[in-house]
Amino acid sequence: MSNKMWGGRFSAEPDGVMAEINASIDVDRKLYRQDIAASKAHAEMLAKQGIISAQDAKKIVHGLDTILSEIDAGKFVFKRALEDIHMNVEARLADLIGPAAGRLHTARSRNDQVATDFKLWVRDAIDDLDRMIADYQRALAEKALAHAATVMPGFTHLQTAQPVTFGHHLLAYVEMAARDRGRFADARRRLNESPLGAAALAGTSFRIDRKHTARTLGFDRPAANSLDAVSDRDFVLEALSAAAIAAVHLSRFAEEIVIWTSPLVGFLRLSDKFTTGSSIMPQKRNPDAAELVRAKTGRIVGALDALLIVMKGLPLAYQKDMQEDKEGAMQALAALALCLAAMTGMVRDMTPDAGRMKAAAAQGYSTATDLADWLVRTLNMPFRDAHHVTGRIVAAALRKCRRSSGASARTCSRCCRSSARSRAARRSAALRRKMSQPRPGAGSSVSGRPSGKRRPRLRHKSNRLKSFTDLH
Ligand code: ARG
Repeated sequence: MSNKMWGGRFSAEPDGVMAEINASIDVDRKLYRQDIAASKAHAEMLAKQGIISAQDAKKIVHGLDTILSEIDAGKFVFKRALEDIHMNVEARLADLIGPAAGRLHTARSRNDQVATDFKLWVRDAIDDLDRMIADYQRALAEKALAHAATVMPGFTHLQTAQPVTFGHHLLAYVEMAARDRGRFADARRRLNESPLGAAALAGTSFRIDRKHTARTLGFDRPAANSLDAVSDRDFVLEALSAAAIAAVHLSRFAEEIVIWTSPLVGFLRLSDKFTTGSSIMPQKRNPDAAELVRAKTGRIVGALDALLIVMKGLPLAYQKDMQEDKEGAMQALAALALCLAAMTGMVRDMTPDAGRMKAAAAQGYSTATDLADWLVRTLNMPFRDAHHVTGRIVAAALRKCRRSSGASARTCSRCCRSSARSRAARRSAALRRKMSQPRPGAGSSVSGRPSGKRRPRLRHKSNRLKSFTDLH
């Protein structure tokens, strides 16, 4: 007989390649805790229902506890010939307690067993990840509080848009993380139905108590349909899709860390704890952890893709294809945990350069929107007109700046780089002077068109406004 567990009708050993492709023990050995917990719950239920004797159940439970401590202590010998964790545990149970071990698999199949084990494993992983995301949120919120008044440029299109604070920016990631936790919590809620009792696919002829095993294992209820119970892998897909979105969020922040720690930007500094050196360039400080968070998102999104593709062609009920659900998912969720730990560490470690951030926030006419708002509020201009007027002012200021600095760039390097604050003060003083001395008969227009031509009428209240275009 080839296999003690299922080899009754077989007369020859499997080919080496068959054994190789069939074995999943290298991956599913990680399910040992869940497998043993589910087997104990099943054995106790069988005894309660009078399906096996209380004495056999006691032996089984005791034997399973022994196996748990053997595996915990690294003393258990996993055998590839026994394919997977379920058969490794059961075979060892037989070594330990003899024939009573053979009663454990009554009213059960590896199909409902593996679905149960992996649900328990994913549920534990979700609980761990939730704790880690909460830690990450706490680190972000603490840093945000410390930098509630640290002004920095806010960006759209990676162009300076409007000033914000570093605290405000960090709190955006707290919100993303809150939604990530919500998605994992949702996945957990839907996952929490027990497949046990579905057996291979059609249930069992024994009078089992599915509610009992469900309750013992912390499930909300037994799964309603036995075919679905053994062939559902939505719980893995949902956990992976929550993980993929969470990883994308971390990756976006990691990308900002990479950009901001570049000497070209210099907004942020990571300590030696979260940077690495170069083997050839002694001056380098590389944000490797952030880069790897960004990169690991690939394998997390990839695991979701891979399992979607495995599942898409499977008829009901269990197919061996489903054995491929574990490796990618386990790696992906572990990668997410590592990314969360790294990001939490980096958030705690990071020091913003408040001076550089503030100077950058003052560049590029980042308060132009405030000026447009001021025109609306104070002069009752329609916002579209106020926007246009402000645009002209920005253009005029740029021209003036370029003329005086001889710069040809779109943004004048002279006034846009150094002492932005004093230059801004000089600019506004010049503006005020101009505003208070309208040129008689200048015929200027806020639209900047040559006088005499028709131009849009703006409902501004003050004549002074007309002189804005005199700056040209
Ligand atoms: N190792 C298998 C898996 O992970 C367990 C279920 C095997 N079931 C079967 N009918 N061969 O899917």
